[in-house]
Amino acid sequence: MAVSPGRGHSKHPRPARRVRRTDHSGPAVVVEVETTAMAVGGAAVGRGPDGRVVFVEGALPGETVRAEVYDERDRYRRARAVDVLVAAPGRVAPPCPFVALGCGGCGWQHVEPALQRRLKAGMVSEALSRLGGVGTPRVEEVTGAGPFAYRTTVRLAVAPGGARPGGAAFRAGRSHSLVEVDDCLVAHPRIASAIAASRFGRADQAVLRVGARTGEGLALLTPDARGARVAGGFEVVGADELGRGRSVAYHEVVAGCRLRVSAGSFFQSSPEGAEALVREVRSALAGAGPGLLVDAYAGVGLFGAATGWSGRVVAVESSPSSVADARVNVVGAEVVLADVGRWAPRPAAAVVADPPRHGLGRGAAEVLAATLAPVLVLVSCDVGALGRDAGLLEGHGFRLDRTVVVDLFPGTPRVEAVSLFRR
Ligand SMILES: C[S@@+](CC[C@H](N)C(=O)[O-])C[C@H]1O[C@@H](n2cnc3c(N)ncnc32)[C@H](O)[C@@H]1O
Repeated sequence: MAVSPGRGHSKHPRPARRVRRTDHSGPAVVVEVETTAMAVGGAAVGRGPDGRVVFVEGALPGETVRAEVYDERDRYRRARAVDVLVAAPGRVAPPCPFVALGCGGCGWQHVEPALQRRLKAGMVSEALSRLGGVGTPRVEEVTGAGPFAYRTTVRLAVAPGGARPGGAAFRAGRSHSLVEVDDCLVAHPRIASAIAASRFGRADQAVLRVGARTGEGLALLTPDARGARVAGGFEVVGADELGRGRSVAYHEVVAGCRLRVSAGSFFQSSPEGAEALVREVRSALAGAGPGLLVDAYAGVGLFGAATGWSGRVVAVESSPSSVADARVNVVGAEVVLADVGRWAPRPAAAVVADPPRHGLGRGAAEVLAATLAPVLVLVSCDVGALGRDAGLLEGHGFRLDRTVVVDLFPGTPRVEAVSLFRR
């Protein structure tokens, strides 16, 4: 079972009042917790000695752990496991050495991959029924990428000093402090090599991206690329140069389609993951009739280009750089630069909607429902947003047919899911 932090069993709880936050100067509060379930955010949940709910990062359901409290509220605490007294089946030693140093990049390295997928499916079922009011959701899970060397986009912090000034770092979990790294197990091998050998000058952030199937590489440094030496044949650009109008892109191939991705455009975390999403979206669209496909939150046009839709496509997207890419990538499509929530809907045979983390929300759900499409495929990257969006869509007469959890981010609790709604 998965539960939602701070939501209890009511759909309309009072907001929890924060009573104290631990800081790093006082003595740490450590409690012993028996965990019974997985919470929607990826922490295990149990009760502490005072009977209060504790959400424990780094724990699995069915464990007894000692956990250091980092956030206290009157109804629950949040804590981090520091000692596992009784381990659950499926716990493994984190394969990445940087987990022990506090790297916050991959929160589920202690979970065996098949169990990660089952837990993600459980979180999705829970969110659909608790937040969305869906009766008995049908949830399946499939692999998407990995478990290692899969990420073709990696966002890094830059160490200002330390052992490797200007070298790569990740943020520590729930902290602004940095963990210097010279490798990353989930990064594509070219990115991992660049992490080891590059210095990013005076930048404070570096985004490294590769086209795994084209051999192209792009490094975007913020605020600028002065003094940077990026190893491995990456084209290097500073955010300041993009601001002055320089245009830089790389290409990736997904399901046989070559896609241009500009430095400022969103792209999925790996071509294998993108292909897995395309497979699920294509299969969900198989039952739709002929006519117009609305590709909402289209990005560079992945679904319009790669799902093989035989009719007309209108792609709606709010980022100018993604719109420019989609106009190249989706031959024959109408690509509209617009906020989906303000787009003027038109009659459609099907909708694919792939919103950012906060989901569709009321406005966009209403606009997409007004296309009168009998089939809507929702691609969600946040469990809570999926639950809320399912409730909104059901309010517009849709019924959830099935949800497939596509594991795009092994080693982390991050969830990606493709849901088919019909009416
Ligand atoms: C999760 S990405 C999906 C992109 C694309 N479907 C793909 O799979 O590559 C979400 C996209 O929605 C765009 N976006 C965010 N808010 C938007 C809005 N209110 N209206 C339209 N597009 C939006 C972002 O720029 C981004 O390209």
